[in-house]
Amino acid sequence: MPIHFKESSMTFHLFNQKFSYILKILPEGIPVQLYFGAPLIDKENWDYLLESVHRPMQVAYSLEKPELSLEHLRLEYPSSLSGDMRPGAIDLLQENGSRVVDFQYEGHSIQRGKPSIAPLPACYVEEDQEAETLQIRLYDKEIQTELVLSYTLYEDWPVLCRNARITNSGSQKLVLNKLMSMSLDLPDDDWQELVLPGAWARERNIEVHPLHTGSQSIYSLRGHSSHHYNPFLCLKRPDTSEKQGECIGLSLVYSGNFLADVDVNPYHTTRISMGIHPYTFSWPLASGESFQSPEVVLVYSDEGLNAMSQAFHSLFRSRLARGEFRDKPRPLLLNSWEGIYMNVEEKKVLEMAQATADLGLELFVLDDGWFKGRNSDRSALGDWVCDPAKLPGGLKNLSEKVEAMGLQFGLWFEPEMVSLDSDLYRNHPEWVLHVPQRRLSAGRNQFVLDFSNPDVVDYIATAMEAILDEAKISYIKWDMNRSLSEVYSSASSPEQQGTIYHRFILGVYALYERLTCKYPQILFESCASGGARFDPGMLYYAPQAWTSDDTDAVERLKIQYGTSMVYPISSMGSHVSAVPNHQLHRKTSLQMRSAVAMFGTFGYELDPLLLSSQEKAEIQEQIAFMKKYRKLIQFGEFYRLQSPFEGNETAWMVVSPDRKTALVGYYRVLQQINVGFRRLKLQGLLPDALYSISNKEEMEYGLELERAGMVLSDDSSSENRNTDEGDYLARLYLLQAQEPE
Ligand code: DGJ
Repeated sequence: MPIHFKESSMTFHLFNQKFSYILKILPEGIPVQLYFGAPLIDKENWDYLLESVHRPMQVAYSLEKPELSLEHLRLEYPSSLSGDMRPGAIDLLQENGSRVVDFQYEGHSIQRGKPSIAPLPACYVEEDQEAETLQIRLYDKEIQTELVLSYTLYEDWPVLCRNARITNSGSQKLVLNKLMSMSLDLPDDDWQELVLPGAWARERNIEVHPLHTGSQSIYSLRGHSSHHYNPFLCLKRPDTSEKQGECIGLSLVYSGNFLADVDVNPYHTTRISMGIHPYTFSWPLASGESFQSPEVVLVYSDEGLNAMSQAFHSLFRSRLARGEFRDKPRPLLLNSWEGIYMNVEEKKVLEMAQATADLGLELFVLDDGWFKGRNSDRSALGDWVCDPAKLPGGLKNLSEKVEAMGLQFGLWFEPEMVSLDSDLYRNHPEWVLHVPQRRLSAGRNQFVLDFSNPDVVDYIATAMEAILDEAKISYIKWDMNRSLSEVYSSASSPEQQGTIYHRFILGVYALYERLTCKYPQILFESCASGGARFDPGMLYYAPQAWTSDDTDAVERLKIQYGTSMVYPISSMGSHVSAVPNHQLHRKTSLQMRSAVAMFGTFGYELDPLLLSSQEKAEIQEQIAFMKKYRKLIQFGEFYRLQSPFEGNETAWMVVSPDRKTALVGYYRVLQQINVGFRRLKLQGLLPDALYSISNKEEMEYGLELERAGMVLSDDSSSENRNTDEGDYLARLYLLQAQEPE
């Protein structure tokens, strides 16, 4: 049993092979954090780790307990306002105007498995044996309110999932202004913070900062998790690298406004908290009502960042993503967007689909532009019916023709949005999020539907179902192209307006749940102007996401490398597009574009009718290669070897579960002259297996490839270079362990 309770010391020891997490209930009923780190030997108590001393200016717990101060305890779920001077995890307004709370231990339960927190997405177990859950019940008797802190420990992953749930069982009308999913106090501040900030077309860049005294936070106030900050945070020791050292990763399973805060106090204690952003949240909690926070997934590693990422990858791939496609290699597709944009025309679309089939691809995706009146981004969102002017034969006919070519057919939707020039808006102007009488901000010339209103969600669901029932659709790209503003729902009372951001996301989840349950055979890919909603909440419904609108191979190195900090390769939509690239106007080779896109769910996003016969032949080879190795790539173990954020070269590799097959991707942005010799140290191989390496004659042992490295040197040093390789070079090396004779 990985969760032990020591009654004599009221201590909980949550541990597996990878870490220990220890907390204790003080005699005052306060849960305090004692340890989170590499596994400790189990014992009765660790009370010496409390370190409670009297300090000047501290506010004591009571007159009788001058030495006890909440400010100096490492609290499991702080409430501040009554002695702890740091940011609290909860803010609960009571009828008397007070926000002071006093939640004390009332009891706990330990159970096998992991309770669902539906309708919120969360990691799950397939069998109860996989995990154990501790629920600590705290109670504030003044307001008869219960707070339950949940901790799920997986046996085979270095993972702890936390969430909080509050229930008003008294008679007061409470207002919940803040309920973080978790808070964690660490005893020192010798950490660096690693985050994944970005912007449109340059999502999830890696940034590392030393911690400073005070607060450092990342957040979204855009109504979606955003391009700008991903709901992920990692604390690493200053000397932690990809391969070694301690780090803690935290990932919030949520797609809306979030706050992840790291607060260091002048005593060098570090408090991390993560959850729904309180600034846009105010939730009336009437008698008998509960509020459930989203889940935070904590991963502990003392084997470096790569081991942390691998834990996130395998957990998210197999215990967060759901449905038929979870474990399936993903279809190789052609998406029409960069090929024809909104210029959808039946004859052209069918010609593109035929060319897609001729190349050997499996899925043709018709992106934006197919529905009635969609001639620019100013019109038609919300009117989910086929445009007869563009597709006179209709979607049913089109999809059948595409299927007859041996392809599957996929379609683009943007369910949460509406254009002013649409029948939906003309019929239901009140369904747009807006504050009556006030200016309404536009984003990509479009507006946001009030998904907090179940009638709106039902209307969109019904319209989408009509299409899905009529046409043969195997894939949906679910887009979302603007941030939320003026978030106010005409369908809700003034008191409920602080709930709308969260209820909007619940509406999005409800629509996903309805469609994924009703159409389990459809593969969903989430998208939000590229990667503006690339988060674990979305992965629960859609096992893959469009990583970025930036399809330039050089920029994609950074985007995919940063994304891999948390998200599995099987989740990263990545396509080969035409050159000059439409975002950066850069010309990279077809070989480099494919060698980058192959580390993801592979596809093409161009007009296949414009390809030369030489390009077609090259693409056919790429597709054949991907068909053979996509399982290895999408479900193998991923290693980051060389960072694009640190230089001109990038390298990564995937290794099969039996470690006998591996694929290395090596990329050099600019050619250099007369440089030093280069070697690349590989990882994850069988030390004593002899590997053949594609394009190399000799075979090497796994141990050598890890310790001495694979030689990458080329003849860039030579005056008589016999290669025409220049800038934007990419090489793939396939390694295969030889069977002993
Ligand atoms: C933004 C997406 O990221 C693109 O891939 C494309 O689907 C467009 N929207 C369509 O409007």
